[in-house]
Amino acid sequence: MSSKPRNILATSALPYANGSIHLGHLVEYIQTDIWVRFQKMQGHTCYYVCADDTHGTPIMLRAEQEGISPEQLIERVHAEHLQDFTEFHIDFDNYYSTNSSENRELSEQIYLQLKQAGLIESRMTEHYYDPEKEMFLPDRYIKGECPKCHSQDQYGDGCEVCGTTYTTTDLINPYSVVSGAKPVRKETEHFFFKLSECIDFLRDWIDNGNRGSSPLPAEAKNKLEEWFDAGLRDWEISRDAPYFGFEIPDAPGKYFYVWLDAPVGYMASFKNLCAREDIDFDSYWKKGSDAELYHFIGKDILSFHALFWPATLEYSGYRTPDQICVHGFLTVNGQKMSKSRGTFITARSYLEFLQPEYLRYYFAAKLNDRVEDIDLNLEDFVARVNSNLIGKYINIASRTAGFISKRYDGKLGNCIDEMDIEPLQKLQRAADDIADLYDRRQFSEAIREIMALADIANEYVNDTQPWVIAKQEGQEERLQQICTTGINLFRILTIYLKPVLPELARQVEEFLNSEPLQWHHSNELLLDHDIQKYKHLAKRIEDKQIQAMLDKNQENLKATEEKESHSPTRHAQAQQGEHPAIANTIEYDDFAKIDLRIARIVKAEHVEGADKLLQLTLDIGDQQRNVFAGIKSAYSPEQLQGKLTVMVANLAPRKMRFGVSEGMVLAAGPGGKDLWILEPDEGAQAGMKVK
Ligand code: MSP
Ligand code: ZN
Repeated sequence: MSSKPRNILATSALPYANGSIHLGHLVEYIQTDIWVRFQKMQGHTCYYVCADDTHGTPIMLRAEQEGISPEQLIERVHAEHLQDFTEFHIDFDNYYSTNSSENRELSEQIYLQLKQAGLIESRMTEHYYDPEKEMFLPDRYIKGECPKCHSQDQYGDGCEVCGTTYTTTDLINPYSVVSGAKPVRKETEHFFFKLSECIDFLRDWIDNGNRGSSPLPAEAKNKLEEWFDAGLRDWEISRDAPYFGFEIPDAPGKYFYVWLDAPVGYMASFKNLCAREDIDFDSYWKKGSDAELYHFIGKDILSFHALFWPATLEYSGYRTPDQICVHGFLTVNGQKMSKSRGTFITARSYLEFLQPEYLRYYFAAKLNDRVEDIDLNLEDFVARVNSNLIGKYINIASRTAGFISKRYDGKLGNCIDEMDIEPLQKLQRAADDIADLYDRRQFSEAIREIMALADIANEYVNDTQPWVIAKQEGQEERLQQICTTGINLFRILTIYLKPVLPELARQVEEFLNSEPLQWHHSNELLLDHDIQKYKHLAKRIEDKQIQAMLDKNQENLKATEEKESHSPTRHAQAQQGEHPAIANTIEYDDFAKIDLRIARIVKAEHVEGADKLLQLTLDIGDQQRNVFAGIKSAYSPEQLQGKLTVMVANLAPRKMRFGVSEGMVLAAGPGGKDLWILEPDEGAQAGMKVK
């Protein structure tokens, strides 16, 4: 593919700063990284930027729950994310943060441009509000009873038990996940971006893009057309304090909704890179730019990238994207990734047991330019890596390199015999086809072709039988020729696989004493050249590695789940090993409102179907209380019966799935096994008030 040099900017979606990177995320970062590495090998200028998406309510609350500031949380997670990505060989030119000065400036400036264009409007709207926590609640933070099957603790968008969908207002006894309080409806002023006025521009853009063809895969374009037909609603872009984000200029107490500043984070990350490497920011972002802009995203965030983002750019003086490359979701063994099935595999768990490049290879072998879900079938994963990557590709080197070092002092022959030229030419001739497939993100096709070429290379070695020739006298030169051809076949395959297997390719370059391989190097042959002694490049995967990974992952998931499984009122719990920050000061009167009593645990029982709860019958002198306590991971019922403890006796009764809980026992510790209930000193009697 001999095209003129291109200037490309590629991005992957910015992962949220409140969770770990998992294999689902990696579909996207690996896909983008392969594409970018390929473009760089072609000699194009291609930058790849990303960042952590750091703003919004979940991050604010998560930090609070851990007893740290949001800044501390996002700094820690940034380091974790970058470490995971680096180990998977995701080679960002910049991995930044949306909580940056560049992002603040750009977001404000874009907002003011939109305002000037008459596209921002302020309106009063009603939202759910937590009167105790004094904050507006995103829908995900409201739970309640399903109106259909009456299961407890269901989200406002639908019931996970019976599958009914409904809206938050339909929930029976709704409560705030943050404080447990009953949410109320409350009016407030909000800013809107008038997306409805951008429809003509958007319709044209999804048909013709910037260069006369659609910037979207067909499935995504169809989806957008459905949305257009249903009518576009204006987009609420503000949130009220308390919120972790950027305050809106001239609107104290109002913040940009995280999805306003998140995509601007692409620009901000690039701007930060420009300052460092002296790149002209405007030539990539100003209207009329001839640089190419590619966003890689998952199908769940299509509306943000194909409606709001291009409209935002168009009306604030910037260029629009050339391509929105939308991929589907990862399933594991044919099913949605699930914590309870243990298939919610984190990058960390994988890295502990398996080579990162094996996953890169497997994803590449499955990815294309369509919005299809891709499945990680663990058996198929092992089989494909072992039979194709190791059995076909690596095998060529291991069958030919040994003779070169042993018999020819590491020197390749100085010519290719006429009769060996055909397989070499077949491999070389495929360069443009494979390049075209990579460029169009048809990675699975590219891998299929490369593996077909590996078959040709293996056939060549089978037919020429170097191990037989090696035993024949007077065949010294022939053996060197065969092995030289074998090594050259291997080298060409390495070039084609390099975007997918960058670290392996680097080792091959070292073995071949070669400069970094570029795409055009497939035209040349390596002759009369010293190579290093062959060291084994890759090992087969053993089934037990997979099992070990799954086991470890399950363990890690359990540990984090326990850390996170706090009752709404105990959400200020800290991370294991860390102490929660001291809560805000209260007056004595506030404290006196809590009626704490010594309670005797007269009965403790398991609750059928509950993983974490024990059912306790508590004697508080003149009455008995039924309490469900999340302490099963730390105590057996036998350990508890007869013990004295402390309970909150005036906590409003709460209806739970298993019955009504009439109070709460007090315990300390991060959770899981590390949980200790309080016990009074000897002499205290059931029913005594704790003051
Ligand atoms: N923060 C937003 C993106 C803002 S971009 C301006 C976000 N973050 S995310 O962490 O939830 O997801 C990051 C990317 O990973 C998204 O493109 C998302 O589609 C992708 N994936 C997350 N889970 C995935 C799978 N299970 N499978 C494939 N991709 C997945 O969305
Ligand atoms: Zn239900």
